[in-house]
Amino acid sequence: MKVLVVMAHSRRDSLTGQIADAVAAGLADAGHEAEIADLYGEGFDPLVTPPDEPDWEREDKVYAESTQAEIARLQRNDGIILVFPIWWWSFPAIMKGWIDRVWNKDVAYGANTLNHKRALAIGLSASDAAQYAKRGYDTAIETQIVTGIFDFCGIPDGRLEYLHGSTDGGERAVEMIGEARELGKHFADGL
Ligand SMILES: Cc1cc2nc3c(=O)[nH]c(=O)nc-3n(C[C@H](O)[C@H](O)[C@H](O)COP(=O)(O)O)c2cc1C
Repeated sequence: MKVLVVMAHSRRDSLTGQIADAVAAGLADAGHEAEIADLYGEGFDPLVTPPDEPDWEREDKVYAESTQAEIARLQRNDGIILVFPIWWWSFPAIMKGWIDRVWNKDVAYGANTLNHKRALAIGLSASDAAQYAKRGYDTAIETQIVTGIFDFCGIPDGRLEYLHGSTDGGERAVEMIGEARELGKHFADGL
């Protein structure tokens, strides 16, 4: 299976970057092919401008060239994994902009939806699971990503995994990298 691993962090050697690499290594362990999209490293522009605004009256809008290249990269993979630090209970802006521009009308929703069989979002979080549950952030973020994006865009099997304790360092960081490798290894189980 070909899987696009999209990461959002300004430092390639951040914990987020190491988690993306571990997920890719886990995919390779299981015989899959991972393609890493490093949004910051590639200088992705997250701003939606008129060439990428949906046309609500037509179904054949041709988006900006850079968006078409991103759509092609998305579509040449059968699975997708998003790796990001949780910032203000959501994606970093660069990843939100990648969704805004690339998962566009009549590509990901509307006249066409995505063909990916499975999607996984991996959110690194400083706070622990109890803090997330206390204010309902756990289900709020899950609804936004899994229902509002994956499900809405036709991906039948989407889920969100939190890696809590991302600022604890030391042992916890090593543990998280191990957990990420397992997530990659088992990503396509049953498909
Ligand atoms: C702008 C910003 C907003 C953040 N918001 C949250 C948050 O809402 N919830 C949370 O648990 N952690 C939050 N954090 C902590 C990050 O999730 C944490 O720094 C990151 O997961 C650590 O991974 P890294 O070393 O790869 O950056 C925030 C960090 C930053 C810089």
